[in-house]
Amino acid sequence: RGKKAFIAGVADDNGYGWAIAKSLAAAGAEILVGTWVPALNIFETSLRRGKFDESRVLPDGSLMEITKVYPLDAVYDTPEDVPEDVKTNKRYAGSSKWTVKEVAESVKEDFGSIDILVHSLANGPEVSKPLLETSRYGYLAAISASSYSYVSLLQHFAPIMNPGGATISLTYIASERIIPGYGGGMSSAKAALESDTQVLAFEAGRKHGIRVNTISAGPLRSRAAKAIGFIDMMIDYSSENAPLQKELSAEEVGNAAAFLASPLASAITGTVLYVDNGLNAMGVGV
Ligand code: NAI
Repeated sequence: RGKKAFIAGVADDNGYGWAIAKSLAAAGAEILVGTWVPALNIFETSLRRGKFDESRVLPDGSLMEITKVYPLDAVYDTPEDVPEDVKTNKRYAGSSKWTVKEVAESVKEDFGSIDILVHSLANGPEVSKPLLETSRYGYLAAISASSYSYVSLLQHFAPIMNPGGATISLTYIASERIIPGYGGGMSSAKAALESDTQVLAFEAGRKHGIRVNTISAGPLRSRAAKAIGFIDMMIDYSSENAPLQKELSAEEVGNAAAFLASPLASAITGTVLYVDNGLNAMGVGV
């Protein structure tokens, strides 16, 4: 039986979510994605018009198929949580059932169960502000979109995950080392995500027999990273200072995710796996 994967946080072909989808598809998984509601229209249109066809090519020459795209906004758990202005916003009004609980229900209705859950999303409205200047609103919004969103996804999807299943999120070393410029509470959000990875590994392991891991990825020129504003500098810094002096490709993170999701990793849970050309191991720049 082929495995089914739900990947939350795919809205173009540049980010880690897309690369993870490809690696999982190459390994034979059926791909379902959750796309942020405001980005849904352009993503689906681009997909339909063949704009991503070149990046859909898998190692065997076939094209990755996305079985279904679900609208998702991971900062809302149930319809009752959605404020009126969002409900009536024209980018949201055209879609329905996009809160976490409703998406899990739709996936259950459509496919019964899944095997792999990937959280590849983050958002911090004040990311370009230093932590010292971050507002309470900005900090809590970063935690809500980037950390609690994972707790919520697991809460609602774990019951429809087959035993032996795996879940993976994406984190960044700014959680444990000082990375000036990664502000707005995003460093705090990643620290929460990593700590939660351990607690959730215990709870979901005991209750559902599933594994929970996170990948601490090196810098990638994704849409989200470009919005932070220092991505080119981080890529240069990495190629100057990391043990492996090459640019990190999204595919390398995708492949590590496919490993973590596979039976090859059946005893690995509660871990942070660094996929960063080894940069995390350096104590000083060279
Ligand atoms: P990306 O822009 O491809 O992915 C972020 C996605 O999150 C986007 O598709 C966006 O639409 C979605 N999103 C934002 N708010 C959402 C919400 N409320 N509900 C649902 N979806 C929402 O960028 P990237 O960089 O691939 O990000 C994926 C993950 O990788 C994030 O967790 C990020 O922090 C992490 N990461 C990225 C690094 C980089 O250098 N690009 C380095 C280390 C970790």
